[in-house]
Formats: sequence, C-alpha cells, structure tokens
Amino acid sequence: MIAIRGATTAEADSPEEIRGAVKELLTEIRDKNGLTAENIVCIMFSSTADITSFYPAKAAREAGFAGCPLFSSLEPPIAGSLKRCIRVMVLAETEQKPVPVYLRGAVNLRRDITKKLVVALDGPAGSGKTTAAKTLAKELNILYLDTGAMYRACALACVNAGADLSDESAVRAVIDGIDLKIEYCDGRQVTLLGGKDVSEEIRRPEISQLASKVSAYGFVRRKMVEMQRRIAATMSCVMDGRDIGTNVLPNAEHKFYVTASVEVRAKRRYDEDRAKGYNVSYNDIIREIRERDKRDSEREIAPLKCADDAVIVDTSSMTPEEAVEFIKSKIQEKI
Ligand code: DC
Repeated sequence: MIAIRGATTAEADSPEEIRGAVKELLTEIRDKNGLTAENIVCIMFSSTADITSFYPAKAAREAGFAGCPLFSSLEPPIAGSLKRCIRVMVLAETEQKPVPVYLRGAVNLRRDITKKLVVALDGPAGSGKTTAAKTLAKELNILYLDTGAMYRACALACVNAGADLSDESAVRAVIDGIDLKIEYCDGRQVTLLGGKDVSEEIRRPEISQLASKVSAYGFVRRKMVEMQRRIAATMSCVMDGRDIGTNVLPNAEHKFYVTASVEVRAKRRYDEDRAKGYNVSYNDIIREIRERDKRDSEREIAPLKCADDAVIVDTSSMTPEEAVEFIKSKIQEKI
C-alpha cells in the first residue's frame, strides 16, 4: 500500500470552488499515480479553518470518488497559513512509487517537489498589466513583484536628494547609495526607501515621468535587474514591468505582453488619478503616456518590447477579470 500526498487551494470559500478544486486535485492524483476505483483504499482531507462552506470529502464523493471511505477534518487556524488550502492523503493498494500532487497556490507548500512558477508580464502604462498581475498572483497564491515601483523609488530618491535627472553623475551618486527594500506585508508589496514606506508617494503622477527618465540609465537598470532576478530565483512570482520577458527573466516559461489602445490607457489612468484626488486633465495624460511610451520603447537599454515568445493580451475591450482569465487559461495550457 502507498500513501500519496497532495494539496490545492480554492479561489473562494464557496461550494462550487471547493468542488472544482477537489475534483481537479483527485483527478490529477489518480491519473499521475495510475489509480483505479478498485485500488484506492481511502481518501482523507484536512482543510484550513477558513473553509466553512463545503466538506472536501463530499466534493470527492460528488466527483466520483465514492467507492472508498472518505474523511474530512478541519485544521486549527494558524497565523500565516496558506489561505483556503485543502490537503489530502490518498491510500492506495499499489506497488508503484507515490507521485505527490500540489496544485494552484499549494505549489508553494512544497517547492522541493513542485515546479517553480514564474510569470513575466510586460506592457506599457495603463495597459492593465499591474491589475492583472496583482490578481493573478493573489489567485495563484504567489508573490507579485511590481518592478515599476522600484524605478519609481529610484526617481523619488533623486527628487529627495535634489538631483537633476539629466545629470548622470548626480543620479549615479544617489543610486550608488540608495537604500531600497521591497517587503511583503499581508500579500501587499511595500516599497521602503531609507526605511520609510513610500508605496503611496511613488504613485504621484509627476513621479511617473521621472521614473521613466531614471529607468533609462544603464547603471540604474543593472542594479534593479539584479534585485529582481534575486527575488525570482528564490520564489514563484508574477513580475510586471517593461523588460521582464526580454531582459530580466528571458527564460521565464510564461510570458505575456499586455497592451491596449493609447486612448483606453489614458482614460484608465485619468479615472485612477481622479479617484485618488489628483487634479489631472485627460489631454495631459494622453500626451504624457505618448511621451512615456516613446521614451520607454526607444531607450537604448532594455526597451519596452514584446518578447518573441510572449502571448499578446490586448485589453482594450476586456474587463480586468477577462484579462486575468485569459492569462490564467494560457498558463494552465502549459503547466
Ligand atoms: O509600470 P510603472 O508605470 O510603475 O513604471 C514606471 C516607469 O518605470 C515606466 O515609465 C518605465 C519604467 N520601468 C522600466 O523601465 N522597466 C520596468 N521593468 C518597469 C518600469
């Protein structure tokens, strides 16, 4: 007899999500281990305390795994545990080596036996890549790294130091001594400059233009790219930016180029900035976006460009949810 371990996460605490997650997990365990209804001895589940709407064992029965004893238990609420996680142990009467199966967010529980997932999302300002990247990372329960925030923090550091961005040596002096840290708090990226949380400050509209300028310097990019690669080397993540698929992580298995028409992008930025209380005009934004696109895509080092092997996602007439669904379906196809 063998014992096969597995785990997955449900996107929501709803019977439909739990049914879907359990069915997917058990089907994969069955197929990967060559199990049949006859040789499964029993299936035991434990789930995190935030799953309250449905028993995984019941979902298993409904999915056709009804010929053996099934058992569900609830884990105590443990701080920091993976959200909506369902763990399973399948006992089976077979001689072969057990193949454990960890799916969705649960891949992070056992990175030693699951493949690391790195998703690169590139695209121009306002394309919807950041919204898509954040949602995707949340749903996959992996880290989200906003690389634009790092360039924004570099720009803010220059502003704080009174450095003129067209003065290369002044910028170099600031960047050489920059104390930039990216931390994660409750799944949210926190950008720390000199130990101070600048996550909000770097979103100011004028920082957008300055970030685009500072990011054109080779020495700035080298320093940031080194940090980005270090993060991707140690954990599964969704990384968004301008050069992730082409330069930072050219070997990423999942690459997307998210784009939309200039008008749609400008309207999104306008609505976002207005909602934040910034007094901006649509015409200024469209002009700035054009300027930024031009500078980001025409700069000499690592310009904004679609990688040859990236999937293009035009979000002009997509809702944010549709964009995420599309990206997820493309990732699933490859996994
Ligand atoms: O995505 P964003 O608007 O926060 O990015 C701010 C600027 O930083 C953008 O104009 C281009 C630059 N950037 C870059 O050059 N490379 C990245 N990987 C991310 C952003």
